[in-house]
Amino acid sequence: MCGIVGYIGPKPAGSILIEGLKRLEYRGYDSSGVCIYDNGELFIDKCPGRISVLEEKLAGDPRIETGTIGIAHTRWATHGEPNQANAHPHTDDSGRIAIVHNGIIENYSALKQFLTSKGHVFSSETDSEVLAKLISEFYNNGSSTLEDAVLAALGEVSGTYGLAVMCADEPDKIVVARKGSPLIIGVGKDEYLIASDASAIIEHTANVIYLNDNELAILTRDGLRTLTLDNVPVTKKIQQVEWTLEQIALDGYDHFMLKEIFEQPDSIRMSLSGRLDMRDMRIQLGGLDQVVRDLVRTRKIVLLGCGTAWHAGLIGEYLFEDLARIPTEVEYASEFRYRNPIVEEGTSVIALSQSGETADTLAALRESQDRGALTLGIVNAVGSTIARETDAGVYLHAGPEIGVASTKAFTCQLVVETLIALMLGRRRHMSQQTLERYIEELQKIPEKIETVLKQSEQIRDMTAKYIDYENWLFLGRGYNYPIALEGALKLKEISYIHAEGLPAAEMKHGPIALIHDGMPVVFIAPKCGTYEKILGNIQEVKARSGQVIAIATEGDTEVHKHSDHVIYVPDTLEALQPLLTVIPLQLLAYHAAVLRGCNVDKPRNLAKSVTVE
Ligand code: F6R
Repeated sequence: MCGIVGYIGPKPAGSILIEGLKRLEYRGYDSSGVCIYDNGELFIDKCPGRISVLEEKLAGDPRIETGTIGIAHTRWATHGEPNQANAHPHTDDSGRIAIVHNGIIENYSALKQFLTSKGHVFSSETDSEVLAKLISEFYNNGSSTLEDAVLAALGEVSGTYGLAVMCADEPDKIVVARKGSPLIIGVGKDEYLIASDASAIIEHTANVIYLNDNELAILTRDGLRTLTLDNVPVTKKIQQVEWTLEQIALDGYDHFMLKEIFEQPDSIRMSLSGRLDMRDMRIQLGGLDQVVRDLVRTRKIVLLGCGTAWHAGLIGEYLFEDLARIPTEVEYASEFRYRNPIVEEGTSVIALSQSGETADTLAALRESQDRGALTLGIVNAVGSTIARETDAGVYLHAGPEIGVASTKAFTCQLVVETLIALMLGRRRHMSQQTLERYIEELQKIPEKIETVLKQSEQIRDMTAKYIDYENWLFLGRGYNYPIALEGALKLKEISYIHAEGLPAAEMKHGPIALIHDGMPVVFIAPKCGTYEKILGNIQEVKARSGQVIAIATEGDTEVHKHSDHVIYVPDTLEALQPLLTVIPLQLLAYHAAVLRGCNVDKPRNLAKSVTVE
């Protein structure tokens, strides 16, 4: 996630900005940059890579020492590769207005077109750059102050932002605004700091003002004013930060994995952002524009991935066959690459990867390219090798995933697969009415996940009852069969409990022999086409003295009669159920690991990105 830092006061801004950026490193980033006002001009430097590279570039530049006002940014790429041009700050054409921005500007293409027609020249591929040009458009055409121009520009923008703006013509002022992306103001002695979270500030002051959504603040050397985006003054309270630096990085959570589990409503909102056109009720995926005609005619889809990404692929198989009616196969990337696979004409290969760097997935992708397939990436890390080497793709926009066990990247992979399947389905056979039902329901998913997350403590208490069992089974059918595999993988990788996931009907063909003596068996059993069958499977387990934990649809009393514990999830369309049913299993695995004293964010023998075979 991008980070913002800013300073106005009596001290040299350079070192405060760089130190602040370093404090935000934990959020993940791929480029960084600063803007400092000095001697009538805005001095900007930025580069891809580590903050230390930026620091070296700046070392010895006198403006770092003399400028006492500035803004800085760490970028986690969303639109455009992590390179110098795309790094923030961005400026207007004259270089007199500079901005740093977190969030996504949903209508940036339309704004870019408008601004280009007015003669503005763009130098990056980012959505953020439109903000700098748009503010200058208003500044040079009627707005009398920087804050007026910012207010006017934000009135034209849809999307999310934490924003900081400077202007060389009003050199003692920083204007900041917030909608959907956090921004706080540190209030020191004769100085203000701004940051996306308190970690970049608390070294200097514990007094902070939390800006709310739809608020703007004007920071000057004489004081601070806060307004709503409708230009109504608001009075803000100064509050005390009481967290340590580590607690701030974790945002109050004990582990990154838990934080990322709880971030899923927001990461899914980001993944959907700008892709659901609610006016015309259609799906728009800019990353596929160039290949959409080939994709619609594709004869076969092959999904490639490893581990959790492979599980997302398994659900993709159901989605592409069910919603788009395209024959689909899922392959372990590590098997595909060595299997002498047949890649017939008209095959599209989709690589799923959070990191975009997994060695087996990359090699399998290259193999399929050599054999003539159209290749796509569903990737989280912008500018990663898989993202660069595929013909086209759709980014997850899940934000950086730091916990080793993948959680929010998985649910965003499902979201993106669903969007692609719906877009292709609509172009092939699906009625507009059906598409609209999916669009409406997709929009409700983040809120529904929030209701599941509220059960975290109950899930912990339940998990505690089974914590001494060393062998677990996870069973599901249809769309929820891959969720059984994912539940088992999550449990084993972070709590070291042995767990197997299976399609529920396979139990009879061997694994049923394991069930005795209270063995915990987790059934993913929401109301769906095979619900009656799974009820039968539950009874088979109970008859052999297994203990049943069921994930069921809210209001289902039948499952309750046959289970030892039930965790309820809200009802939704069958194809979207995995987005809800996986959440209790992530929580179960997390709580089991904590109860067993395991190192949740760094499980033994595992690395976040598997870049070797
Ligand atoms: C499990 C997990 C791994 C990854 C796998 C692929 O929680 O995180 O199974 O899913 O190593 O990684 P990416 O998605 O980066 O290709």
